[in-house]
Amino acid sequence: MIEEFPRIKRLPPYVFNIVNELKAQARARGEDIIDFGMGNPDQPTPQHIVDKLIETARRGDTHRYSLSRGIPRLRKAICDWYKRRYDVDLDPERNAIVTIGSKEGLAHLALATVGPGDAVLVPNPAYPIHPYGFAIAGADIRHVPLGPKLDDFFAELEKAIKDSWPKPKMLVLNFPGNPTTQCVELEFFEKVVAIARENEIWVIQDLAYADLVFDGYKAPSILQVEGAKDVAVEFFSLSKSYNMPGWRVGFMCGSETLVAALARIKSYLDYGMFTPIQVAAIAALEGPQDCVREIRDMYQERRDVLCDGLNALGWPVEKPKATMFVWAHIPEFYRALGSLEFSKKLLSEAKVAVSPGIGFGEYGDEYVRFGLIENLHRTRQAIRCIKDMFRRDLGQAAQASGG
Ligand SMILES: Cc1ncc(COP(=O)(O)O)c(C=O)c1O
Repeated sequence: MIEEFPRIKRLPPYVFNIVNELKAQARARGEDIIDFGMGNPDQPTPQHIVDKLIETARRGDTHRYSLSRGIPRLRKAICDWYKRRYDVDLDPERNAIVTIGSKEGLAHLALATVGPGDAVLVPNPAYPIHPYGFAIAGADIRHVPLGPKLDDFFAELEKAIKDSWPKPKMLVLNFPGNPTTQCVELEFFEKVVAIARENEIWVIQDLAYADLVFDGYKAPSILQVEGAKDVAVEFFSLSKSYNMPGWRVGFMCGSETLVAALARIKSYLDYGMFTPIQVAAIAALEGPQDCVREIRDMYQERRDVLCDGLNALGWPVEKPKATMFVWAHIPEFYRALGSLEFSKKLLSEAKVAVSPGIGFGEYGDEYVRFGLIENLHRTRQAIRCIKDMFRRDLGQAAQASGG
């Protein structure tokens, strides 16, 4: 019935729900499923941030409607964060807005800026809100295939711009990327900004994984590029860097025009986050940062155990330089199954849940995504289960072929 509604029609059923449903059924049968399915951090928020929330919530003057753009002191903390990390100068009044998690900000920015007849360029595969935020707003999505070689991206981008009419209005980027874990250097963003200026396209860059970087890699901000503020905005989220996914705190910085557009639409839609959450967000950004290092080290250790284990059992995977994911090319022996069937098989036979790559777009169908949200012990257990499944299947194949 809901398929009759025009915006719902533009939203295919969430592929991840198929695996989630099977996972829930298996758990209801009492099976122990090792779950790498979501990008949902499993650790608690650092204590000093929780304490600041409690202390502020105890004050009676913090319970009223807040400000939908974010309290000025938080917007200042955000601009200071950019200055400290990237030496980027931003004005808290014109270049920064607080969002209820970056997902809310992305969706409402789309609603504020595009509509039917507009075309938006989005890499494929991509984190679902990147295309669907704009699809919900009524725009047409033009996929820019994002393969393993980033050099090909610019050729694909130029082609997508040339082949689109009406001319694309926006380009969405996400580096370090979910789900592909791809990383870029500043020169990449310099090229993007030049293309955007030449073609008069807005750029929306999602920097959610800025802090989850390994082996000395540093993720650049698009706003470091000279003149980027004229054509681009960047989203950041406290969800991953500070283990705060449930708090719903993010922000968007950059172009004054896009900040004003998002501020206008949000002023109709919300009264801002609960003030104590905003005050606690200041404590996160300005307080001790060793918690960020600890969180990063934890993901790096999990990454190493998972990747080393998969490689040792004959599933070649690369160690990502950033994010909390491993984007694993499905082993050749299973590839023809496609990512959904392979994920179902891993779930039913190895008791391991992953996200099928198809859920991030058709160009993701040869991959599955592991979220590094299980501890080392359970990660090792998962590797043993996958190894057993591979051994059974390969053994049967060898027997069938008389080997
Ligand atoms: C690339 C990317 N952007 C945004 C988000 C959502 O972040 P938030 O919790 O701030 O809405 C995620 C969460 O997984 C993500 O992977």
